[in-house]
Amino acid sequence: MNKVTVIGAGNVGATVANVLAHKDFIKEIVLVDIKAEMAQGKALDSWQQAPVDYYSTRIIGTDNYALTNDSDVIVITAGLPRKPGMSRDDLISTNAGIVNSVTSAALQYSKNPIVIVVSNPLDVMTYAAYKISGLDSSRVFGMAGILDTARYRAFLAEAIGVSPKDIQALLMGGHGDSMVPLPRFTTISGIPVSEFLDEESLHKIVERTKYGGGELVKLMGTSAWYAPGAAAAQMVEAILKDEKRILPCCAMLNGEYGLTNVFVGVPVILGRNGIEKIIDLKLNESERTLLNQSAEEVSSMMKVYDAL
Ligand code: NAI
Ligand code: 2OP
Repeated sequence: MNKVTVIGAGNVGATVANVLAHKDFIKEIVLVDIKAEMAQGKALDSWQQAPVDYYSTRIIGTDNYALTNDSDVIVITAGLPRKPGMSRDDLISTNAGIVNSVTSAALQYSKNPIVIVVSNPLDVMTYAAYKISGLDSSRVFGMAGILDTARYRAFLAEAIGVSPKDIQALLMGGHGDSMVPLPRFTTISGIPVSEFLDEESLHKIVERTKYGGGELVKLMGTSAWYAPGAAAAQMVEAILKDEKRILPCCAMLNGEYGLTNVFVGVPVILGRNGIEKIIDLKLNESERTLLNQSAEEVSSMMKVYDAL
């Protein structure tokens, strides 16, 4: 049976743990936070939900990394969330310190785990965890594309008047306003989206998607957690059940899409070994230009991190 550690028991981390527990295939989830009692409380609350919702996954909360020993997957959500008026990049130096310290602490107790980063700015924090962990890049990657694609799919479902279940879509690039939704790879039960929406309506949805995180920060005064938590849990499930799912994740590119040494969102196959393959699609010129611009933005933030 599997063991998962979730670091950061805030809005996103607690949701990841709770969603995973409901899937009922993990033996133990350890929720770690510097606020030990808050982590213990949320873990206890989730455990007390088990008899009601019928799951057996044990959830414990702690600030003691020794209890995370031998985790198969470590999800990093520790760090500050955005406040209104802040970009994800404003969080870089504070969250880099946090991500580096929690990654190093967790790696003392788990050999060769898979690390999923959620903390923002996502692409750069994934790079930070990759560098400090010394793990292979197939085992350190970030969650953003599933969330951004889910927002795009939800907006499409609403506009077209169909179930979000039937919308398949792809979104690439960094987790920022330069993300690249790809209408050419968007279908409704296999039917091209262009059969349902004109270009202008589609463009509006693409634009709303790019600023989807900011829309929620404005409404709530902090960033989202239900969809982000569920998205990270979906990655954990794909890995531990060796599902070989094709999901957009923030991955280190080594020549794919003509890019190297940069972490950006691309479709990958996720299985028990982490990223088992990066799917290198043939993009048209305008898609490639947008992806290159987005990768360039991430690269410049990676340089800011390197200079810290
Ligand atoms: P939150 O403030 O609710 O929770 C963050 C938790 O991290 C707090 O409980 C805090 O005590 C903990 N923490 C801080 N420093 C720590 C340390 N050194 N060790 C252990 N725990 C520590 O924030 P929320 O909403 O859960 O967001 C977490 C992060 O995820 C933020 O950086 C946010 O921007 C990011 N995020 C990323 C998304 C994505 O798509 N990749 C989506 C949503 C949020
Ligand atoms: C989000 O997209 C802020 O990254 C966070 O909701």
